[in-house]
Amino acid sequence: MPNYKQIHNAEDLRRAAARYLPKPVFDFIDGGAEDEVALRNNRAVFERVRFRPRTMADVSSRSLATTLLGQPSAAPIAIAPMGGLSNFAPDAELAMARACAAAGIPYCLSTAAGISIEDLRAAVPDARLWYQLYVFKDDRVNEGIVRRAQEAGYEALMVTTDTHVGPKRERDRRNGFTLTLERTPRNIARVLARPRWVWDVLIRAGLPSMPNLAPYAPEVVDSLSATKYFIENRRYAFDYDHLRATRKLWKGKLLVKGVLRPDEAVQIMECGGDGVVLSNHGGRNLESSAAPLEMLPEVVDAVGRKMHVLIDSGFRRGTDVVKALALGAEGVLMGRPAAFAAAAGGQAGVAHLIGLMKDEIDRTLGFLGCTAIDQIERDHVLIDHAFPGRNAPGL
Ligand code: FNR
Repeated sequence: MPNYKQIHNAEDLRRAAARYLPKPVFDFIDGGAEDEVALRNNRAVFERVRFRPRTMADVSSRSLATTLLGQPSAAPIAIAPMGGLSNFAPDAELAMARACAAAGIPYCLSTAAGISIEDLRAAVPDARLWYQLYVFKDDRVNEGIVRRAQEAGYEALMVTTDTHVGPKRERDRRNGFTLTLERTPRNIARVLARPRWVWDVLIRAGLPSMPNLAPYAPEVVDSLSATKYFIENRRYAFDYDHLRATRKLWKGKLLVKGVLRPDEAVQIMECGGDGVVLSNHGGRNLESSAAPLEMLPEVVDAVGRKMHVLIDSGFRRGTDVVKALALGAEGVLMGRPAAFAAAAGGQAGVAHLIGLMKDEIDRTLGFLGCTAIDQIERDHVLIDHAFPGRNAPGL
């Protein structure tokens, strides 16, 4: 267990996770596509947005309470869907969902999760759960999954559309970590250098399969067969017709994740989508993709308040979250920080991360002269000339 007195931010949790995880596993989570320009830019853009605080205010009492997708949330944050997590920490999805439920924020389960839709719901009956859908060639799989998520009371369906092509992640290729970790002498040494992970994941828990796919694909029996099925059977296409069809199936909030363009957001809205998650998959897919934060003002100007606009990719600080809120986002999803927190400390690690983020958001709110989330506005930020959308109406 990490010494939480020495864990002051998301980067400290990342370092703690690096001490727990074998290097190829750490790199799989941490890395991005090709030269990692998109990955680095996701962080760099935050330095181009700075605050214009109001100081003549009484901020002695503040609240982070807000609404996400029309329902109350204790803070404007949630945890992003991540597949394969139970490879990295035992019961990582459960740890995340429990920590989110305790903190009063939503958790989004991935199609590629190591726990089933129903088992997660049974473990956290009162949690706000969202479900992320990767679509498969066989519509029976898509329809079956959507129906199960609905029956289990998941409130939102998030279809990811930024992964229609297999990404080129070179850290994974160099580490021999593609379908599974190659058993080279170097990898064996790297794994053995992390005995606690070997005990927790390899020996005690075992590498997880993808239980949400198993009912439709009897060949999915373990981690390797699940990954193979996932790659070979996904439908690497999702267009507006698919979206309209999904709208007919799904009664709850319907979001598309991976959108960056205002014209797409508008069309998604016209096809019945309730919201978008601006995302470049954390810089893991399209190299040199614009950072979602850069595209946020344009998207918000295009769809106004008619759509839920969430965002992720690169958020590590409370100040990052407040910058996105100032530019018009409703809320922020956290990816890697939650994965590292779960690896470093399980549910307690994720709870610590959420606590740190809440504390930083609260502090920023106070410094800006605000006492509530809905008081944060564009006027609170100053953005550099190079920032796209700077001249968009309202800026
Ligand atoms: C992801 N992400 C992701 N997205 C998705 O829609 N379905 C998935 O199964 C996964 N799996 C996944 C695994 C891992 C290890 C990571 C790090 C990410 C992307 C994720 O939802 C989110 O968009 C990014 O992680 C956000 O960027 P940050 O916060 O990691 O910088």
